[in-house]
Amino acid sequence: MEELKKLAAKKAFDYVQDGMRLGLGTGSTAKHFVDYVGEAVQNGTLKDIVCVPTSVKTEIQARALDIPLAPLSELGRLDLAVDGADDVDPQLNVIKGLGNALVREKVVEALADELIIIVDDSKLVERLGQRSPLPVEILQFEAQVHVNRLAALGADIVYSLKENGDRYVSDNGNFIVRCKFEDGIADSYALAQELQAMPGIVEHGLFLDMATKLVIAGKNGIELQEKPA
Ligand code: A5P
Repeated sequence: MEELKKLAAKKAFDYVQDGMRLGLGTGSTAKHFVDYVGEAVQNGTLKDIVCVPTSVKTEIQARALDIPLAPLSELGRLDLAVDGADDVDPQLNVIKGLGNALVREKVVEALADELIIIVDDSKLVERLGQRSPLPVEILQFEAQVHVNRLAALGADIVYSLKENGDRYVSDNGNFIVRCKFEDGIADSYALAQELQAMPGIVEHGLFLDMATKLVIAGKNGIELQEKPA
């Protein structure tokens, strides 16, 4: 599995060029991509890039690799962002956030001209939510109210937890809950709208119409899919 993740990351790295403004994803697959960027910066084969990390964890990794970082506000837009995903459907819509970084991922990747999603083939589904629960970041304030609202949409809700069993608190100081819809999400666009309209919901893990390319690593090699223009 780790080899497949690496393979997908390597393929995405082929799209990185000198001078790019780059969004760095979060998670076990994106981590390999950040390693490739770091290696190329260190050996001088990649020049003049500036990167924006999508989590504190990725920022720490990037800094350790001497990857130049800048705030998104200084860069305006990004040329490319590369990140993993949890569920991917045939339209290249994805669920993200099981790694708890969905808010910063969405903020950063919404400003990328190109978003390459890198996955192993276990992540492919016909319908989003079939395999993964949908992560949703909620305010700690009156958290139970938000959980009740989410449950009223027909989902089973569990909190994202730390290893010691405490509730996970995101880089932004919020809780994250995982919403499992039996048989998956019937209409992702409608659900995204409903979630956006709910007070107390900070962000959700539906990344719709954002990915421009999908790299899938499987035991027979790499497949590249592109979102039709
Ligand atoms: C992080 O919050 C997530 O969006 C990850 O990108 C996603 O969970 C995929 O992670 P893995 O590459 O570890 O499966």
